[in-house]
Amino acid sequence: MLRIDVFTLVPHAFAWLTEQRPLAAVLGSALELRLFNYRDTTPLRAGQVDDEPYGGGAGMVLRVDVVAAALDAAYGGPPEQPVVALTPKGRSLTQAVVEELAAAPALTLLSSRFEGFDERVVEHLASDAVSIGPYVLSNGDLPAMVVLDAVARRLPGALAEGSGELESFSEELGGALEYPHYTRPAEFRGWTVPEVLLSGDHAKIEAWRREGVR
Ligand SMILES: C[S@@+](CC[C@H](N)C(=O)[O-])C[C@H]1O[C@@H](n2cnc3c(N)ncnc32)[C@H](O)[C@@H]1O
Repeated sequence: MLRIDVFTLVPHAFAWLTEQRPLAAVLGSALELRLFNYRDTTPLRAGQVDDEPYGGGAGMVLRVDVVAAALDAAYGGPPEQPVVALTPKGRSLTQAVVEELAAAPALTLLSSRFEGFDERVVEHLASDAVSIGPYVLSNGDLPAMVVLDAVARRLPGALAEGSGELESFSEELGGALEYPHYTRPAEFRGWTVPEVLLSGDHAKIEAWRREGVR
C-alpha cells in the first residue's frame, strides 16, 4: 500500500477528488491518503502560517517554522519518505516522474499558497520539488491533486484490466501518444471511422494502431 500525506491549507478541497476514480477505487486498498492542515500545528498565534517577505515586495510567504512544525507533528522528526514540494521551480512532472513517485512506499506532498514557500522549505525540509507545468497557479492544491490522480492511476485496482498499459507516454508505446479512439455512430455528419477499425481483422487493427503512434 502506498501512503500519501498531503500538507495543505485547505484539506477539504480534496474531498471531490477522493469521491471519484481513480482515487475512490484504490483508497483503503492500494492507497492511504492523509491530509494535514498547516494551521492545525502552527506554532504561531491565531492560526498564522504566513509572513511578509524579507526585503519587501508584494504578497505573503508560507513560513518555514510552520511547515517544520507540521512535519514534526506528523512524523516526530524528519520523514524518511520523499518529501515533494509543489512549486513552479521544481522538475517537470512527466509520466516517468509519476512512475517514480508511484513506486515509493510513501510520499509527502507539500502545497503552498500566497507567494509560495520560504525557500528554506524547498532547500531543507523537502527532498524533491515538482512543477506541473510552466505556468503559475494560485496554490499547490491543484498540483497536488494532479500528482495524486496520476499516481493513483498507476496503482493496482485503479483501472480496468489492461487499460493502464497502452496509454500515452507508456513504456508499451515507447513514450509516444496513444492511437485515436472511435465509437458509434460509424458515420456522423459525413465524418467516418477509419475503415480498418470496422474490418474485424484484429491483426490489421493492431498494425494500424501501432502505425498511428509512431
Ligand atoms: C502563486 S504560486 C507562487 C508563485 C511564485 N511566487 C513564483 O513566481 O514562482 C503559490 C503556490 O502555488 C503552487 N504552484 C503554483 N504553480 C505551480 C506549478 N506550476 N507547479 C506546482 N506548484 C505550483 C506552489 O505551491 C506555489 O508555492
